[in-house]
Amino acid sequence: MANGLLQVKGLSVGFSKSEPLIQGIDLTVRPGEIIAITGPSGIGKTTLLRTMAGLLPPLEGHVVHGEGHSTPPRGSLGYIPQRLGLVRHASVRHNVVLGALTGTSSRFWPFSAEARERSREAIAQLGLEGKIHAPIRKLSGGQQRRVATARALAQRPRVLLADEFLGELDPATMESVRSAVMDYVTSQQSSMLMVEHDIERARSMADRLLHVEDGRLLEVEA
Ligand SMILES: Nc1ncnc2c1ncn2[C@@H]1O[C@H](COP(=O)(O)OP(=O)(O)OP(=O)(O)O)[C@@H](O)[C@H]1O
Ligand SMILES: [Mg+2]
Repeated sequence: MANGLLQVKGLSVGFSKSEPLIQGIDLTVRPGEIIAITGPSGIGKTTLLRTMAGLLPPLEGHVVHGEGHSTPPRGSLGYIPQRLGLVRHASVRHNVVLGALTGTSSRFWPFSAEARERSREAIAQLGLEGKIHAPIRKLSGGQQRRVATARALAQRPRVLLADEFLGELDPATMESVRSAVMDYVTSQQSSMLMVEHDIERARSMADRLLHVEDGRLLEVEA
C-alpha cells in the first residue's frame, strides 16, 4: 500500500474516445482519506465512479487497486450507486447480506455467522430494523438508499465509493445516515470517495474537495 488504496493515472472516462466526459485524471485515495467530488448534473461524476469501481472500462489510463490490481480485490471496494441496484423483489435483509457475503468466503446458504452479524449491525446502523423483512419495492426512495448504504457497510470495504448517498433523505434521517457512514469510515480507517452535489455538505465531510469543470477534475480548497 505504498502509494494509496486506489490510484488513477492519466484516466479519461466516458462512452466515446473522441468525446471523453472527464480526462487527464490523476488521483490517489490514501488510507483514511475522505474525498468529495462536486460538479453540475450530467458532467460525468457517476461515470467516473463507475470507472473507478471497475464497472466501465477507462477510455485511457489506468485504475490501480491496492498493490497493483487492475480490478478491486474481493470485498475491498464498496459501492453505493446513485441508481441503487437493489434486488427489488427480495427483502432488506437479503439485500444487505449480499453485501456482507462479498467480503467473506462463502457466498451461499447457509450464510456464515459473521455475514449475518455484519448485516444485522449495518441494518441497525441505518435504522432499518423495522423493515428487515420488507421487499425493496415496498420501500420509499430514502429507505432504499439506506438499504444500499447498509449493503456497502456490511461488506466492510477498505474504500467506499458513494454516489449521492444522502439524496432523498429528510434532515434528521440524513444526519443519522451521515453519522453511520462517518463512524464506519473513521473507526475502520477506511477511505471514501463521495459524489455530493451540495458543496457545503461536501466541505463539512471531506478532507479534500474536487470539482469537475470543463472535462477536468480540479482540486479546490476544502
Ligand atoms: N450508459 C451510457 N451510455 C451513454 N451515455 C451515457 C451513459 N450513462 C450516462 N451517459 C451520459 O454521460 C453523461 C454523464 O452522465 P453521469 O451520470 O456520469 O453524470 P453525473 O455528473 O453523475 O450527473 P448527475 O449529477 O445528474 O448524477 C450524460 O450526458 C449521460 O447522458
Ligand atoms: Mg450522477
